[in-house]
Amino acid sequence: MENFLDLNMNILKGRIFSFLKRPEDISDLESFLYIEDGGILFDEIGIIKEVDEYSALRSRHPNSPISDFGSNLICPGFIDVHNHFPQTQVIASYGAQLLDWLNKYTFPNESLFIDENHCKKEAKVFLDLLISNGITSSVSFGSVHPISVETLFAEAKKRNMNLIAGNVLMDRNAPKDVLIPPKESYEKSKKIIEKWHGNGRCKYAVTPRFAITSTPELMEVSQSLFDENKSCYLQTHLSENLDEIKTTLRLYPDNKNYLSIYDKYKLLSDKTLLAHSIHLETDEIEKIKDTNSVAVHCPTSNLFLGSGLFKFEELSRNNIKTAISTDVGGGTSFSMLRTLDEAYKVQQLQGFSLNPLESFYWATLGNARALGLDNEIGILKPGCVADLIILNSSSTKIMSHRMEKCKTIQEELFILQTLGDERAIEGVFIAGENVKAA
Ligand code: GUN
Ligand code: ZN
Repeated sequence: MENFLDLNMNILKGRIFSFLKRPEDISDLESFLYIEDGGILFDEIGIIKEVDEYSALRSRHPNSPISDFGSNLICPGFIDVHNHFPQTQVIASYGAQLLDWLNKYTFPNESLFIDENHCKKEAKVFLDLLISNGITSSVSFGSVHPISVETLFAEAKKRNMNLIAGNVLMDRNAPKDVLIPPKESYEKSKKIIEKWHGNGRCKYAVTPRFAITSTPELMEVSQSLFDENKSCYLQTHLSENLDEIKTTLRLYPDNKNYLSIYDKYKLLSDKTLLAHSIHLETDEIEKIKDTNSVAVHCPTSNLFLGSGLFKFEELSRNNIKTAISTDVGGGTSFSMLRTLDEAYKVQQLQGFSLNPLESFYWATLGNARALGLDNEIGILKPGCVADLIILNSSSTKIMSHRMEKCKTIQEELFILQTLGDERAIEGVFIAGENVKAA
């Protein structure tokens, strides 16, 4: 009997690559699924139903339409767990380290997001850039203005995209057009949570920028918002730059270290994302572990702003959960491939060669696990959302030339991350829809 339901299903054909668990080393073949001539079947709402050899899938579903991606890889979409929506036009701002860079370029640019039309225009550009770089899920800072994050949520919802975001909370040490008093921030944030948390694939993150721009009263507001909305995330910055740390401890003199400030206000949990986490003391590493918080590496930003080198090996040895992100616009690229390349170099500078399985795991299943969303994203398996990308490892002349010598999938991944960029992303599917082609 003909299965007419099959007509509502779609098959993608290509080389399937998806992690099953964290790789132990570069030869850990058990850590991933790789099917040379594979197929993925998903339904009309973009839920993956089957992942298998193409021939087996085809014989079970002879009527389903097929998109054939030939020898290209089909992988889970990249997940970017830390970036700044109002900083797209701050990328490539010359000659400053963190605190000067914020004052000179970032705060003035973020002040423009009081204007709804500017937010709308920028939201489209921002999400277009993420998507064309294969990023199908994002965790983003807005500006202090509620309209910034509301506009971004609305644009993400239109695209059926998984977006975690929050209006940034700041009430001191910045120009007054990017400050909002604590009580007002509390009321405005509550309204945004009510409207957007769980609306489509949108989720809210309480977003105190960092301790320097937060009075103790604003920290209390962050604490209340996080405590009253337990399914929301919390995102902030930690120990990125030595001058930042000095200033922070001057503003909070009763605290023994940077992280103890966030701990005092109960901001640490398994839903807490701590961007940068570079210059950590032993006590801070212990506290991150005890609270199951996530240390987020931002390699292109750390090199560009001269902030320091993320101690991946030490954190991994201490069983700290880590994640990787672009940190646009302190970061210099929307490309997760460029980001992985710089992460490799950051580790090389410390005498450690990050293996390409670990890097690709980081950008997909690792980041999904850091967000507690590995039942939805970061992996190609039945029940998950068909957020996936098509990667062409021969997308430039040098890549195709180098690929002639490639013998293993691990080597191919390393070529992709070292030489690849936006041009390697041939297709991007969000909940089963090819949004890059559109
Ligand atoms: N620390 C506080 N705000 C920021 C920001 O916007 N970017 C970076 N890289 N660090 C920060
Ligand atoms: Zn940041």
